[in-house]
Amino acid sequence: MDRANIITLPHPNLRHRSTRVRSFGAELGRLCTDMIAVTLDWEKHRKHELGVALAAVQINRLKRIVVIRDDAEHKENEEFITLINPKIIRLEGELVEDFEGCLSVPDIYGLVKRRERVKIWAQDIDGTELRMTANGFLARVLQHEIDHTNGVLFVDHLKDQFDNFYQMNDEGKLEKLDGSKIKKQSHILWD
Ligand code: NI
Repeated sequence: MDRANIITLPHPNLRHRSTRVRSFGAELGRLCTDMIAVTLDWEKHRKHELGVALAAVQINRLKRIVVIRDDAEHKENEEFITLINPKIIRLEGELVEDFEGCLSVPDIYGLVKRRERVKIWAQDIDGTELRMTANGFLARVLQHEIDHTNGVLFVDHLKDQFDNFYQMNDEGKLEKLDGSKIKKQSHILWD
């Protein structure tokens, strides 16, 4: 599997709620391995971006699975953590605005408000229960990915907010997009 397996807007399955994983066997392991391979292949073909995380729905498998980069500060570290059936137990702290992108929303970034701290419950690849508390960037990534398992994309938090979108230039800097351009793409982003 590679980056060609990623589905992007306006693919309708991105708005579907994924189903719970009930069987923890070799097939699940293969799917998680595929998800990581797809994320790294996507990254290999991007100049400035890191493949931080992926939800199974993004390769059109409607299962509640996410993989998240273990160390998003270091590109050479290609380890991922795998969360099965993750759910948010509690959101805490202030609402903080920061940039988000998504492999399923190509070449568009948005300024999204998220809670600064999150507590989650999940299972690991063997089905063992785990709890995790995260702050800052990881808290944001967890909220973004768990949204995916519920059929929600970051652009859904910015519905009709045409002036909150950015694109990356050749130097890797984010530049504000013209709101009228986003308005023209409304049917792709929100229908
Ligand atoms: Ni995403």
